[in-house]
Amino acid sequence: MSAVELVNLSKVFVGQDRREVRAIDAVNLQIVEGEFFSLLGPSGCGKTTILRMIAGFESPTAGEVRIGGEPMRDRPPFHRPVNTVFQNYALFPHLTVMENVSFGLEMDGVPRSQRRDRVAQALELVKLNGFEDRRPRQLSGGQQQRVALARALVKQPRVLLFDEPLGALDLKLRKTMQLELKQMQQQIGITFVYVTHDQEEALTMSDRIAVLSDGQILQVGTPTAIYEAPNCRFVADFIGESNFLVGRVVEASASGLVVCIDEHLPIAIPQPLDLPVGKIVTLAIRPEKLIVQPEQPGTAAWLTGTVVESLYLGTDTRLTVRLTANSSLVARRQNVYRTSLDTFQIGDRVQLQVATESICVLPEGRLPRPSVTAAAETPPVAVSSSQEAGDVEDSRRFPPLQ
Ligand SMILES: Nc1ncnc2c1ncn2[C@@H]1O[C@H](COP(=O)(O)OP(=O)(O)O)[C@@H](O)[C@H]1O
Ligand SMILES: [Mg+2]
Repeated sequence: MSAVELVNLSKVFVGQDRREVRAIDAVNLQIVEGEFFSLLGPSGCGKTTILRMIAGFESPTAGEVRIGGEPMRDRPPFHRPVNTVFQNYALFPHLTVMENVSFGLEMDGVPRSQRRDRVAQALELVKLNGFEDRRPRQLSGGQQQRVALARALVKQPRVLLFDEPLGALDLKLRKTMQLELKQMQQQIGITFVYVTHDQEEALTMSDRIAVLSDGQILQVGTPTAIYEAPNCRFVADFIGESNFLVGRVVEASASGLVVCIDEHLPIAIPQPLDLPVGKIVTLAIRPEKLIVQPEQPGTAAWLTGTVVESLYLGTDTRLTVRLTANSSLVARRQNVYRTSLDTFQIGDRVQLQVATESICVLPEGRLPRPSVTAAAETPPVAVSSSQEAGDVEDSRRFPPLQ
């Protein structure tokens, strides 16, 4: 059964100037019991609005929220089986750990004897027994987070909601907390709905992710599916880094496609995609999937070019390879060797290889218009974004690839 279900959920805000903002637009989503589920998207895409509608702080303009199968319409926040963990944890500094965790139960009028047992149980779950008498300032950031979690858990919610809880922390602490939270969720086993704009955070922690843009869900999937098989350009671009090459399908059969990209050799992609000959597609290729080799004159390679930039990043080196006057690709090479003997220099001629199953074919895009004054400095990533917004086919009309 779904822990949380969003059915045709919409939210329209009316601003001070009376203009309507469609913050959430007919969203449908099922979050499974016991799942670590993330809502991921850029600032302003509607993540907080969804979370607030689940919690009951905001009411839908249309559609509904169901929790444990029950419609939540007209159910106030404190009668919903959910609890929210806020950024900065909002702990009371003058209260001890025990008092902080107990506070909500006192407000609910739970008798003292029961309170003590439930607080002990919650502190046990987050491994904070022995810390009952400390105050928040006597705890590390990680411990404070666990107090906040215990305070939410003590109310025995069916679902815990998190709105960018780690946003204010420095990178190292954030990474530690991500793993801690994930481990605690696995131990406790209750459903987490986690809002973040940080794609790496979502990939690290989640069982499944919904990627949002402009109040709509573009894709729902496991971290692997979202990263390896994005269903549209927005997702491919927002999660990790992607190269985009726009081309035309010149052959299509049950065994795969052949795609032609301007000045490059045609490429056969053995993926059984139902796309017609003539269809314009965008090939999305992750930088780490590109294998860079010295150009071998006399052999035909799909992509050849010149190294125009090389950035040493410690674990890997990020190379920009110019293919043609107006297209270039980014490749990432893992620094397997300690010495720099293995690296390419600016100006080196190279060829790029990629396993064709690693190419993601997106059924969207527009070929650049032929131009006499070819923009020599324009990378291919800009190919379709440099066109008028309405020019690009809407990816949402097409089904996901997998
Ligand atoms: N109370 C409100 N009144 C008017 N507009 C709002 C209100 N709350 C949010 N919005 C608008 O709704 C959109 C989604 O906001 P929000 O859910 O906060 O996004 P996110 O959490 O993804 O950054 C934004 O355009 C935001 O300006
Ligand atoms: Mg927000």
